[in-house]
Amino acid sequence: MKIAIIGCGTIGSSMAMRWRATHQIALYDRTLAKAQHVAEVAKGTAYATATEAIADSELIVLAVKPQNLHEAVELIGKHLRHEQLLASVLAGVTLETLVKSFPTVQLLRVMPNIALEYGRGVIGLTDYKLNAPFTKENIQTLFDPLGWVHWVTEEKMDALSALSGSGMAFMAVIIEATVEAALAMGLSTDEGLMITLEMIAGTISTLQHTGMHPSSLKWQVASPGGTTIAGLYALEEHGLRSALMQTFLATYKRNKELGKKI
Ligand SMILES: NC(=O)c1ccc[n+]([C@@H]2O[C@H](COP(=O)([O-])OP(=O)(O)OC[C@H]3O[C@@H](n4cnc5c(N)ncnc54)[C@H](OP(=O)(O)O)[C@@H]3O)[C@@H](O)[C@H]2O)c1
Repeated sequence: MKIAIIGCGTIGSSMAMRWRATHQIALYDRTLAKAQHVAEVAKGTAYATATEAIADSELIVLAVKPQNLHEAVELIGKHLRHEQLLASVLAGVTLETLVKSFPTVQLLRVMPNIALEYGRGVIGLTDYKLNAPFTKENIQTLFDPLGWVHWVTEEKMDALSALSGSGMAFMAVIIEATVEAALAMGLSTDEGLMITLEMIAGTISTLQHTGMHPSSLKWQVASPGGTTIAGLYALEEHGLRSALMQTFLATYKRNKELGKKI
């Protein structure tokens, strides 16, 4: 398939890298040098104009910031055709806004996270009026190399974005604090980081392989009057659960507020 990527920043360039082996990639960015750089590493073609990039592309990925939506409409809006699919990764930009902005084309909302670069992203998808040659099945196949694909109704997009997009930053803070605890216990930061990452990978594997509920895992590790329950008690005293719930809900609320402004 020929895929045009408009906006060659973090998300656009990562998508180009994941698709480079199996698709033809056309790249456009308002800074030509950026498109040329991505074209070099992703074995694609950089174009000086957006209209050239999208001309015979079947899928067009819009990967500019939400505040640049109106410029993008000016650039490509009137050149899109109904047999093309426009996939927007713009956080908070609803299908309603996309339909108004790009009335002539099939639409897909995509909510990825940056782990897509390693094929480990969470990729939320919501479609609007798909027609041949596009089906949910072939779109799923197209996005599979980017990570775990999850179709959601649009009202769940903000929650998915808070969990999988912003969630990566919150998990990074938890990892960072754990490494600092390791440092306080006399381990080096390198050692602390390796142990922490392996411990988290092991926790994930255990939950995935057993299907165990997280609280069962917790009770399996903690023994009566032991070390883990002393730590769990401190964790409750310092309100980690409440802090995490408030963190995700604040993010979700902000997603909704920003979405209304666009
Ligand atoms: N980063 C994430 O974790 C993440 C996760 C989920 C969704 N998203 C969404 O993905 C989109 C892209 O995010 P990003 O982090 O990849 O942003 P980014 O790194 O800033 O990339 C956007 C690129 O698009 C270029 N651009 C801006 N206006 C343009 C225009 N009119 N025509 C062509 N190119 C234009 C920008 O150029 P300049 O640098 O000159 O502005 C920049 O190179 C956003 O809408 C964001 O909401 C991001």
